[in-house]
Amino acid sequence: MSPPRKSNQPDQPDQSGLLDPAVEPLVDILFLGDIVGRSGRRGVAHYLAHHRAERRAERRAERRAAHGSARPELVIANVENASHGFGLTEKGYHELCKAGVDVMTGGNHIWDRKEIVDWIDQKPNIVRPANFAEGSPGRGWLLVPVDLGGGRTVQVGVINLIGQVFMGQYNSPWEAMVDAIEAVRAETDLVFVDFHAEATAEKMAMGHYACRLGASAFTGTHTHVQTADQQVLMERMGYITDSGFCGPFNSVIGFVPDTSINRMKGTTPTRIEVSEEPLVQINGCRFTLAVNDGRCVGIERVQARLDISLPDDEITVESLADSPKTLCPVAV
Ligand SMILES: [Fe+2]
Ligand SMILES: [Fe+2]
Repeated sequence: MSPPRKSNQPDQPDQSGLLDPAVEPLVDILFLGDIVGRSGRRGVAHYLAHHRAERRAERRAERRAAHGSARPELVIANVENASHGFGLTEKGYHELCKAGVDVMTGGNHIWDRKEIVDWIDQKPNIVRPANFAEGSPGRGWLLVPVDLGGGRTVQVGVINLIGQVFMGQYNSPWEAMVDAIEAVRAETDLVFVDFHAEATAEKMAMGHYACRLGASAFTGTHTHVQTADQQVLMERMGYITDSGFCGPFNSVIGFVPDTSINRMKGTTPTRIEVSEEPLVQINGCRFTLAVNDGRCVGIERVQARLDISLPDDEITVESLADSPKTLCPVAV
């Protein structure tokens, strides 16, 4: 994004220990799991429109209550399956930008639409795994400015990595993460990691390592199944093993069930087909970060469902989240 600059130094020290927004500003990161196909893209657009309207109402209520400013939110989404289940077209990229996705992350399917190699370097808000082979197009991490209001801006570092267990031949994500976090932390304390991997143990080990390296928030992606283990590690870093996926609800991780069944039974050679069912699930995770030192002070799973076959003004978002907000032991 814009040239790196250090802008997150506190205006004044937090002596109270409480998160008074006037003393310790907060920023939310809304991460959306792998967006699958047209249903996923359209569902995300409707969900974000609904979500922004809700946040505007919250801001008005907070202003009326005069107890501090509402916090800004950065929307990050994994887009490796956004175009018909495989890769991302330039048209799909623009559609998601318009929907309100600020930063996009990738994974093993990011090159499936080969033409992306011609344009990824021109888009400042996409990252692909930092441990892809040296010389790969694109970038493995980036800095994005977030407006805190009152003339203040903070940068958030976004890092993408891919696992090695059951995933294929990639460079070491361990070494790549050390380098990427070090580079990001030279500029900002707010560090977000999307680790795209299959094995839960590899994700958890990488999560704990990221926490030790000073990351603020860490999510796994790739399995398309949300885990219920959101937590704040070491009172420092928000963690979830997998955020899940955004796309057709009645599907096998976004694909038509019968095509998945036939393929896995092995009775006939069958290509799996992305589902275009209009009942869409939204899976993600929201991290609330303290700007002054980058620690995560709140984490909440996002699970919602909406029917995009309805007229636009009749679409409602049904929240499926059954988890109360999980907080670290610091008042917020
Ligand atoms: Fe995926
Ligand atoms: Fe993947």
